[in-house]
Amino acid sequence: MKNRICEILGVAYPIILGPMRLITLGEMAAAVSESGGFGQIAASGLSPDRLRSELMKARDLTNRPIGVNIPLYRPNASEALEIAIEVGIKVITTSAGNPGKFIDRIREAGIKVLHKVSTVDMAVKAEAAGVDGVIATGFEAGGHIGREQVTTLCLVPQLVDVLRIPVVAAGGIGDARGLLAAFALGAEGVEMGTRFLGSSECPVPDFFKELVITAKSDSTLLLGKGAMPIRVLKNKASMMISRTDKAQEDDRLTASGDKSYVQSGGDADSSLMPCGQVAGLITELKNIGEIIPEMMKEVESLSSQLSTIFLGIKGEK
Ligand SMILES: Cc1cc2nc3c(=O)[nH]c(=O)nc-3n(C[C@H](O)[C@H](O)[C@H](O)COP(=O)(O)O)c2cc1C
Repeated sequence: MKNRICEILGVAYPIILGPMRLITLGEMAAAVSESGGFGQIAASGLSPDRLRSELMKARDLTNRPIGVNIPLYRPNASEALEIAIEVGIKVITTSAGNPGKFIDRIREAGIKVLHKVSTVDMAVKAEAAGVDGVIATGFEAGGHIGREQVTTLCLVPQLVDVLRIPVVAAGGIGDARGLLAAFALGAEGVEMGTRFLGSSECPVPDFFKELVITAKSDSTLLLGKGAMPIRVLKNKASMMISRTDKAQEDDRLTASGDKSYVQSGGDADSSLMPCGQVAGLITELKNIGEIIPEMMKEVESLSSQLSTIFLGIKGEK
């Protein structure tokens, strides 16, 4: 495949590993990049030294492009950017904040940047600030989502209609059908988090992975609706927080501490586990090395099935 997102990222396939706080570290990022996608490390929750060492670890494991996601509202965003520059990162993704404040330094370092957005207004501002592309995160996605709760299906084509820069779809994509649907909407790439949670290499506890692969269509819920909405798996802890409507006050949701969502010693009942609605589609753990090649193979056969369907609709053979 060749399109603007492949060119920006320097990869064969426009499939991005969604950054996941304290989960997508050096090993996962390198494994995704090795299979032709774009692996990235989430800077969120990492000390500067740990970020540097995870980036170096990924560098040791692959020569292919890797990136880092920097949440811009955090006080150490500039420091994370300087570390990315020092390590020679060529593409970063940014989220939760104004990319305009950082764009001069990003440009000066010759880095490309994709910014995560959840509304058209946010995307228009990001384009005006000079980012190279946007990642449209829909309501279905795991982890923090936009307050306005716009779905991927609605957000992506609205962005494609008004932006000149390319759009990546995130939220609800877990297989070739999702990728093709995103491309039909005009996206030039996809970002997946939940699909990679269900991978053998993902460093979350087994109980978390088990819940991902046994999840049904309604196994997630939204917490923190007023402040920072976050989609998590339903369990005792999330249902209790949801009932008492104290989500904003729960320090596990504020993302301001350096804690993992899954506390050490936590279990399937007491942990908060971010996860997207697409978990209902994921029924087995796969190796990261299999996920992208299988998806791309499936894209080929699905594309020819689709053209047969459309020829059938037009009454042609
Ligand atoms: C466990 C988990 C943690 C996440 N942490 C972050 C994060 O630290 N920063 C961020 O920008 N997005 C985060 N996300 C969102 C993902 O990067 C990605 O955009 C999202 O998972 C895509 O939707 P999907 O879950 O339907 O694939 C997280 C998602 C999950 C499931």
